[in-house]
Amino acid sequence: MRLANKTAIITGAASGFGLGIARRFAAEGAKVAIADINEHGARVAAEEIGENALAIGCDVADGHSVAIAAAEAIDAFGRVDIAVNNAGWSHKNQPLLEVDETTFRRVIDINLMSIFHMTHAMTPHWREVGAGVMINLGSSTCIRPRPGLAWYDASKGGVNALTKSLAVELAEDKVRVCAIAPVMGETGLLETFMGMADTPKNRAKFISTIPLRRLSTPEDIANAALFLASDEASLLTGTILEVDGGRTI
Ligand SMILES: NC(=O)c1ccc[n+]([C@@H]2O[C@H](COP(=O)([O-])OP(=O)(O)OC[C@H]3O[C@@H](n4cnc5c(N)ncnc54)[C@H](O)[C@@H]3O)[C@@H](O)[C@H]2O)c1
Repeated sequence: MRLANKTAIITGAASGFGLGIARRFAAEGAKVAIADINEHGARVAAEEIGENALAIGCDVADGHSVAIAAAEAIDAFGRVDIAVNNAGWSHKNQPLLEVDETTFRRVIDINLMSIFHMTHAMTPHWREVGAGVMINLGSSTCIRPRPGLAWYDASKGGVNALTKSLAVELAEDKVRVCAIAPVMGETGLLETFMGMADTPKNRAKFISTIPLRRLSTPEDIANAALFLASDEASLLTGTILEVDGGRTI
């Protein structure tokens, strides 16, 4: 059990990568809080995982909501060792002038402000208990961009940069901060990123740009998150782990 006696809060864990991470963490002995704006989905996920999972309704764009979710998880588990900032959202793949200001602000609120809120919610607790791990979901698309995702890429570039800045500042508190940069994955966001119907032909076109010739899966991302969250990664901080089949080489 690689996460025995550990506890985690995972945002956006009602589906996609987050659900994969929650399942894997629980299978490795962790207690997991599934924090998602989709409260029903969070409950379904927690029921499936069983007694080591707790569902919490949470909007990561709202600081008050994140503070309450973090406090609820700390209260339920006694302490929270790991926070995974996974919840994310994007405008659909489209020409940059077609994305309006409200939409871009929403992208920033969900993908980047969420980390501001979680950092404020968790840092005092981690200072008190003497350690912590934060894992952020960045993206490979801001490292090797494609046309159509400019504003999303900006938010994820911020996630990657913030990960390194938090890592240097929180190291003295024994808090490690790492990120995962996935290539396009088989989740609810797939069509948003492709900007076209998820047909075999359209998938094949994108897959041909990935050296290992496949999309990422929730299991790929969960395995990376498991390693980064575990004590095996105790000397890793500020690491942006590309889980991308070589797409960003
Ligand atoms: N799927 C990909 O191709 C891909 C690639 C690179 C990075 N990512 C990143 O991975 C993360 C997970 O995405 P996914 O692909 O699993 O998508 P998904 O749509 O399957 O899951 C996202 C989850 O986040 C939740 N969520 C959305 N807004 C929220 C909010 N305001 N508060 C709380 N929860 C919220 C949704 O309800 C959903 O359960 C995101 O940060 C995404 O940007 C995805």
